[in-house]
Amino acid sequence: MVQRIRGVLAAALMAVAVWQPAAAAGPKPDLDTRFKEAMSNPQLADQLYKTGRKVAAVCANCHGEGGNSTKSSVPNLAGQNPAYLMEQIRQFSDGRRRYEFMEGMIRAMNNDEKIGMVLFYAAQEVVHKPSSNKPLADRGADIFNKNCFRCHGNAGRGSDQVARIAGQQDEYLRTTLQRYRAGTNVRVNSIMTPNVKLLSDQDIEALVAYVSSMP
Ligand code: HEC
Ligand code: HEC
Repeated sequence: MVQRIRGVLAAALMAVAVWQPAAAAGPKPDLDTRFKEAMSNPQLADQLYKTGRKVAAVCANCHGEGGNSTKSSVPNLAGQNPAYLMEQIRQFSDGRRRYEFMEGMIRAMNNDEKIGMVLFYAAQEVVHKPSSNKPLADRGADIFNKNCFRCHGNAGRGSDQVARIAGQQDEYLRTTLQRYRAGTNVRVNSIMTPNVKLLSDQDIEALVAYVSSMP
């Protein structure tokens, strides 16, 4: 009996010994290093995408299937730019962006799950919702084409660093623009704030009507 236990223990210790060199290869890469790794390694990216698709099943309760939200106060994640999503993960993690539920959600995810969900959502298509108030949306287009296009692009799809806003949910757009304008600590951004400071509530309504209907 003792002999058998010794045998099992020895086998277990050997397994540990075999396993250790890999673990001793260094600490796990941080989020940004791992993201760069995935961007330059298609096989790893593919593996993380599949992890992300599994994670997304949890998020679907609020953000909708494939990141097309069905609640107007919850943002779409579909078609969102990877660098922007990564930045929001950082902001929820370090408290620059406050939303208690999402802060907890991000804390509960490991780096591969975070990167995986970014790759998954960035690859999904946004469902187009045409405007229900054309005159208001046209007024929004005028404001958009005077300023917002400079960073978010003519089509509202953003860029590597700037958020996609085309087709975003209307209640979420309204709240977000009001938060930037108010400059409270819920959500601040030194680039967005000066661009919304002078908008009236009516301007915001017009922008919401236009941006949410952009394909
Ligand atoms: C209980 C509902 C709920 C669940 C579940 C949920 N979220 Fe969210 N999420 C929200 C809300 C609401 C916001 C908007 C917060 C705000 O107003 O700033 C948000 C915002 C976000 C944002 C920022 C989007 C943007 O355009 O800036 C990301 C990224 C995000 N969630 C990812 C996830 C991921 C990944 C999961 C699953 C692991 C998830 N969420 C699960 C409700 C939820
Ligand atoms: C000088 C560049 C710039 C201009 C001009 C600009 N934006 Fe932005 N916008 C950004 C950046 C950068 C972010 C990401 C900020 C963050 O991380 O919170 C952003 C974020 C946003 C978001 C949040 C997206 C999300 O998913 O939560 C909305 C909505 C938005 N902008 C709308 C607008 C509108 C409407 C205008 C015109 C009135 C505008 N922006 C003008 C750079 C700009």
